[in-house]
Amino acid sequence: MTLAPFGRRLAEVTAVERLGAYTVIMVVDPHQPEPGQFYMLATETGWGGGAGERPYLPRAFSHARAADGKLQFLFEDVGPGTHRLAAVERGESLWLTGPLGSGFGPPQGRALLVGGGIGVAPLVALSDDVDGPVLLGFRTALHAEAASLFPEQPKLVTDDGSMGRRGLVTELLREELDEDADATVFACGPPAMLEAVRALCAERDVPAQLALESGMACGFGACFGCVVPTRAGYIRVCVDGPVVEAAALETALVPGTGH
Ligand SMILES: Cc1cc2nc3c(=O)[nH]c(=O)nc-3n(C[C@H](O)[C@H](O)[C@H](O)COP(=O)(O)OP(=O)(O)OC[C@H]3O[C@@H](n4cnc5c(N)ncnc54)[C@H](O)[C@@H]3O)c2cc1C
Ligand code: FES
Repeated sequence: MTLAPFGRRLAEVTAVERLGAYTVIMVVDPHQPEPGQFYMLATETGWGGGAGERPYLPRAFSHARAADGKLQFLFEDVGPGTHRLAAVERGESLWLTGPLGSGFGPPQGRALLVGGGIGVAPLVALSDDVDGPVLLGFRTALHAEAASLFPEQPKLVTDDGSMGRRGLVTELLREELDEDADATVFACGPPAMLEAVRALCAERDVPAQLALESGMACGFGACFGCVVPTRAGYIRVCVDGPVVEAAALETALVPGTGH
């Protein structure tokens, strides 16, 4: 696990690009994170306690890539934080705390990467480190443009069939496991998708590592805002995760988690 330097720091934005339904931001940062770790981000201006400023707290984001002293983030504009981030311009700076949490562990057998929607972000970083089929599910072709971030063409499904097959990404996972179940599954996506992945892997006795999301106020274990239940009791997703072994969970469908 890479430990975060103490305190938050300012990171200069070097690029902002639209990628279908998403935005990609690149910032300068010399610290090398591990795939699956995350950062608490806020913009330097227009974010805080001032008049007309919203949100107050930083927001959690997985890095989608870390290379050559730069971090890449991929996000969807879904609320005040991501809206402000989507309006960032090159040359501005972001307040950044991280890398936080524990990321993905090594695979047993072959690696199968399974992503849904904006949950593909940490899998892009993982695909730079491990080889294996990448299975992705998106709502529409516009969202599926994020597939271009992967080094090799992933297998794709969309909810509306506007790109790739029409269906759910767990159908692709079932087919892969039918072919060869000697694999470790690495998954990130909405709670319903993670729960389907967890149940399928439990049924086949396949190890799976799930990158969870939960509402986070601090990101470093102080507020207990991000707790989720496991078979062994509650964990804080920010320090005990965000990547957890699927076998540790009764369910990945936890109220208040996801996006
Ligand atoms: C470890 C981790 C990694 C993450 N990585 C990424 C990433 O790489 N990219 C990314 O885009 N996101 C990521 N997220 C999710 C992101 O942190 C959240 O979506 C964040 O809350 C967005 O902030 P916001 O202010 O834009 O939206 P928020 O206001 O926090 O809203 C978030 C979601 O809640 C919904 N919502 C808000 N208010 C209400 C309401 N009153 N009723 C019902 N629904 C509501 C919004 O529609 C939205 O879907 C990650 C989260 C975690 C924990
Ligand atoms: S976000 Fe504060 S304890 Fe996890």
